[in-house]
Amino acid sequence: MSHPYSHYQESAAYLRAQLGEFIPKVALILGSGLGDLAQEVENAAAVPYASIPHFPRSTAPGHVGQLVFGTLAGKPVAVMQGRVHHYEGYSYEDVAYGVRVLRLLGCDTLLVTNAAGCVRPDWNAGDIMLLTDQIKLGGESPLRGENLPEFGVRFPDASHLYTPRLQEVARQVAQELGTPLREGVYYYSFGPQYETPAEIRAIRALGGDAVGMSTAPEVIVAAHCGMEVLGFSLLSNMAAGMLPKPLSEEEVLEAGKAARHRFVPLVLGCLAQL
Ligand code: HPA
Repeated sequence: MSHPYSHYQESAAYLRAQLGEFIPKVALILGSGLGDLAQEVENAAAVPYASIPHFPRSTAPGHVGQLVFGTLAGKPVAVMQGRVHHYEGYSYEDVAYGVRVLRLLGCDTLLVTNAAGCVRPDWNAGDIMLLTDQIKLGGESPLRGENLPEFGVRFPDASHLYTPRLQEVARQVAQELGTPLREGVYYYSFGPQYETPAEIRAIRALGGDAVGMSTAPEVIVAAHCGMEVLGFSLLSNMAAGMLPKPLSEEEVLEAGKAARHRFVPLVLGCLAQL
């Protein structure tokens, strides 16, 4: 279903009525391993997705599915706790629905994290990668359908989806923290099956440094409506075929936990500088 502008307005109006004077400036979408950062939001107000008109509900077991508003690293934030993925059956428009609603509420920045497979043989599982660009070659765009000019133009430029100024902030924060930071291109993969070894070879040849099943649709929509974007991948595993063992969700979740002590200060440090 294609959402008219009025749906986004109705979602935003519902949230505005709950938030009073509070205006969030930074939208956070936190991937595997970092979702519990929402618990550190101060003066938090949580609104379940299911209560918001037109808002897609997350179906994944164990996914909370709520917006958490409050202060994090001194910044007024809106955390999407639980994200929806295309592989769950949602349209790309629905995957990115929340980004547009948060834009209407006042967010001018999107900070997004994910877990991803490491495509580079010279990098390691556990590394953190700053996203400098992305590749989403297949599947329709989240902007497909009638353009909503209230959000942006029909044919938006995508030369700088990830804001260069914010990439520089991330480099500086990582350096101050002494946290090694890789930089590279995120290759969007449909999932939910992990890639084949042959697909990983193809992705490497095409210029992908990391591969994952999220993020790219939300970033396209955020840039379309004029938001600045900062993105990080936790390279939770070596991609398919690079090691003799099969890939598993447990490995991805474990890597998230193991990297938390490096990842959380980096994300909070960047947030404080935005
Ligand atoms: N491929 C796709 N998505 C992922 C991976 C992967 O190897 N690891 C974590 N998310």
